[in-house]
Amino acid sequence: MRIGIYGGSFDPVHDGHIAMINSALKSGFIDLVIVIPSVRNNFKLYANKLPPPYRFYMMQETIEGLGIKNCFVSDVEYGIDGVSYTAVVLKKLTSEEYITDFLIKNDVKKKKAEEHHEFFWIMGSDTLGTFETWYNPGEILNYVTLLAAVRPGDTTDVDKAAASVKKNLGGKVEIFRLKGIDCSSSGITTSGDFSKVPEPAREFIKRHALYTENTKLLGVSDEARKQFYESSVWMYKYLGAKRLLHTLNVGYLSAHLADVFGCDKDKALIAGALHDCAKELPLEKQTELAKEYSGDLFTEKKLLHSPAGAIFAKREFGIEDKEILDAICYHTTGRGDMTLLEKIVYLADKIEPSRNYTDLTPIRTAAESDLDSAMRMTASAVRDKFVSQGRDIHPMTLLMMRDLGME
Ligand SMILES: [Fe+2]
Ligand SMILES: [Fe+2]
Repeated sequence: MRIGIYGGSFDPVHDGHIAMINSALKSGFIDLVIVIPSVRNNFKLYANKLPPPYRFYMMQETIEGLGIKNCFVSDVEYGIDGVSYTAVVLKKLTSEEYITDFLIKNDVKKKKAEEHHEFFWIMGSDTLGTFETWYNPGEILNYVTLLAAVRPGDTTDVDKAAASVKKNLGGKVEIFRLKGIDCSSSGITTSGDFSKVPEPAREFIKRHALYTENTKLLGVSDEARKQFYESSVWMYKYLGAKRLLHTLNVGYLSAHLADVFGCDKDKALIAGALHDCAKELPLEKQTELAKEYSGDLFTEKKLLHSPAGAIFAKREFGIEDKEILDAICYHTTGRGDMTLLEKIVYLADKIEPSRNYTDLTPIRTAAESDLDSAMRMTASAVRDKFVSQGRDIHPMTLLMMRDLGME
């Protein structure tokens, strides 16, 4: 098969990206497109960007939602340590082992998936002009033919750029016309005008409250931003889409609440983001880790992931800060004498933007000004749920409720 590969940050995906995919599919050069949302782009590492899983799942929902056929999203970059240079990514993606497996997983017939494939790197004509300055451009050309899109009104001398690449590096370049739309991701996020973002992506952004003041992480240190970003890549291995985005949302909301109530914003971001990191580990593993952190304090299946998460975050992700680890440990039950950080993570977990188990508006409103009142509202909702299910409330939750002045 002839496979086009399209990489980018997609922060957010917009109509221009979709036009690129559709035009490439219609160009006659390729049979399908693989889209790769970047993980650690060399030029924009950690710079004010949404963590990779948001961009990955947003792209996936968009392609599916728009019903674009023969277009699949790849997470190949998650398996690469360090900066995901194009040459490194292509080496892996174009390997027989990876590509056959990837195509079969995306329902391409086995026989077709196992054919010999020819690869094309889809790019704008403007990037073709700078291609020779990329990391190992010669190696890239061993894997792919460059497939450059010329936008309407494009002033780049694309033939000259193509001739230069061919002459200096000996690669192959093909040109196609793009029925283009003029927009850029940074233009969208700066202006706040999301009209050129496809509908499924707009819904995704709304559901997770992305590109808001909270996701700018103002006042968060560079180190914590980096840790937040890296935690999302690390947890991608262990959590499914919904849980991963939930736990990251709790990170953003915890950082915001820390701002409102004068708590350490860096710690809140990290504790919130990691709070559910162990939730999808096998139960035996959760039991073992939970015991290690807190003995027999938690025995109920649903609670194990909290203490297990603390130990998992410590051992596998290198979090040493006890306050962060405790906030992870007590996020499900609460406890007596909770710290401000523990309260924040407890609350954020119950009300982050994608939570919709009930109308959370009153608690969300309270959470903007009165933490204990929002905690009481949450705790009483939890109590009602437990009573209706005939479950016992954990003794530590009772201590938390006592401290909050509840019966
Ligand atoms: Fe949890
Ligand atoms: Fe959670």
